[in-house]
Parts: sequence; C-alpha cells; structure tokens
Amino acid sequence: MQQAASGGYRLGPELLTAAAIQARVAELAGAVSRDYEGLDRPLILLSVLKGSVSFATDLGRSITVPVNFDYVAVSSYGQATVSSGHVMLLKDLSMDVAGRHVLMVEDIIDTGLTTAFLFEHVQRHAPASLKLCVLLDKAERRVKPVEVAYRGFTIPNQFVVGYGLDFNELYRNLAAVHVLEPDAT
Ligand code: IMP
Repeated sequence: MQQAASGGYRLGPELLTAAAIQARVAELAGAVSRDYEGLDRPLILLSVLKGSVSFATDLGRSITVPVNFDYVAVSSYGQATVSSGHVMLLKDLSMDVAGRHVLMVEDIIDTGLTTAFLFEHVQRHAPASLKLCVLLDKAERRVKPVEVAYRGFTIPNQFVVGYGLDFNELYRNLAAVHVLEPDAT
C-alpha cells in the first residue's frame, strides 16, 4: 500500500475496495445503457477534471450504447479538505451539447455547490436532457440540493482519496477509495 504522508495527513484504511467499486460501476453502466438505448446520437458523458476521469473512463468502458466523452474543469479545494464554496469554471465544454443527451459524471458530491454550478452552466447550452451520475455521495453534507439519477455509494462525512480523488494531487492512481487521516507521527 502507498503510505506517503502529505501535508499532515496520510493514507488511512480502505473505505471501498477496488472490487466493490468495479462491481458497482458495472451495475451503474448497465442501468445507463438500458435507460439511453436507441438514441439518434451518442450519449455525452461529461466529466469533471481531474477527479472524475477514472470513474468516467471505467463507466464509459462498460456502457453498451454509443458515447462521446467531454470534460470540464472547475476550481477545486486546493490544499484544503473542506469546501470553500467558491466554484470557478477553468475549462469549458469542448462539444456542442445543444439538443444532445448529456450525463454528467462526478466523482463525489459533498456540499453540492460544484455540481449545482455545473448543472446550471450546462443547462444554458440547451441539452436535450441532463442527468447526474455520481460515484460517491456525502449526502449529509449537502448545502445545495441536486438530483442524482445514478449513485454509486453513499458515504459518511470523511475526506476520501483514491480512484481519481486526490489530496494535494496525490493518491488519484489508487484503485480503492481510502479515508485520509491526520498524520500523528
Ligand atoms: P462540493 O462542491 O462541496 O460538492 O465538492 C465537490 C468537489 O470537492 C468534488 O468534485 C471534489 O473535487 C472535492 N471533494 C469533496 N469531497 C472530497 C473528498 O472527500 N475527497 C477528495 N475530494 C473531495
């Protein structure tokens, strides 16, 4: 296991194993494939750099209907483990989503501020439909309500890393999701 300490925190125990994540991703992909069957044009999987890339890639690989990938980027927490509440668009859509079915693929929803901001932004581009697929939902932390169409796991209010999620740009490469814990050493 990778045990590098970073900024007073270190990698804690696994919250979700790689196998549990992969099994759930396959289930979500099955539901998405059924729901979007028969579209005229590919479903757009819109994911949020960089945290959602692992999830969007694995999900897309298991979806059986045609898909396009697009990416947006927003300002993140930086070196903190709590939401600042300020969201800024750093990279806009590169595809024209007008009249297209769009599934926003998110790694984690915490306060909901990032997702709500992106939802409003994408809605302004007049997609045929816009829904949300999220791997991890810290439901008890919600400040802004968001409608989740596909949810991987509801998790407790703990800062987690791995499977795309980082702390200080570290741990994104891990196949499991771990809790980040204070480094007392
Ligand atoms: P929200 O706007 O508070 O819902 O936060 C959403 C964003 O915060 C996510 O897309 C992540 O980038 C980041 N985030 C929230 N919780 C965690 C966590 O536990 N680990 C890593 N990143 C997180």
